[in-house]
Amino acid sequence: MKIIKNRHKLKELISYNKNLSFVPTMGGLHKGHLSLIKKAKNKTKKVIVSLFVNPKQFNSKKDLFKYPKNIKKDLLILKKINPDYLYLPTFKDLFAFKTKNKIHIDKFEKKLCGKFRPGHFKGVIDAVDRFLEIIKPRYIFLGKKDFQQIYLIKK
Ligand code: PAF
Repeated sequence: MKIIKNRHKLKELISYNKNLSFVPTMGGLHKGHLSLIKKAKNKTKKVIVSLFVNPKQFNSKKDLFKYPKNIKKDLLILKKINPDYLYLPTFKDLFAFKTKNKIHIDKFEKKLCGKFRPGHFKGVIDAVDRFLEIIKPRYIFLGKKDFQQIYLIKK
């Protein structure tokens, strides 16, 4: 597993590969993530995982602070399952560039839990869009824990 913290370096390493599977995570890895990584490994030869706790998708600083972060444990878990690449960006690496896409978020964003989490899904989609622009994977693997998130990302 190659660990990369810089998007330019990452692009250099993977841009030739048109058949990548991508599993975005915010760390706190559990069985669900492992199952996604396994599925990704069965789908394509090369798999990239990202680990980034995206502050833009937290409405409250308190929630961001409380979010489980244990990079050492996550790294041990990842080393065992051994994806080809782990992208571990800083905030600046992911957000300090102008994206090709503009985000037009579906009005479903304001429904269900979106009612109580203004800006949450926009923050999710901003990060995912950036990952997709950098990595250009053929497949993305997302957990089904959040129906609304999957729906909005697909849109
Ligand atoms: O579901 C998650 O863990 C996050 O929302 C995601 C898709 C990694 C974007 O930060």
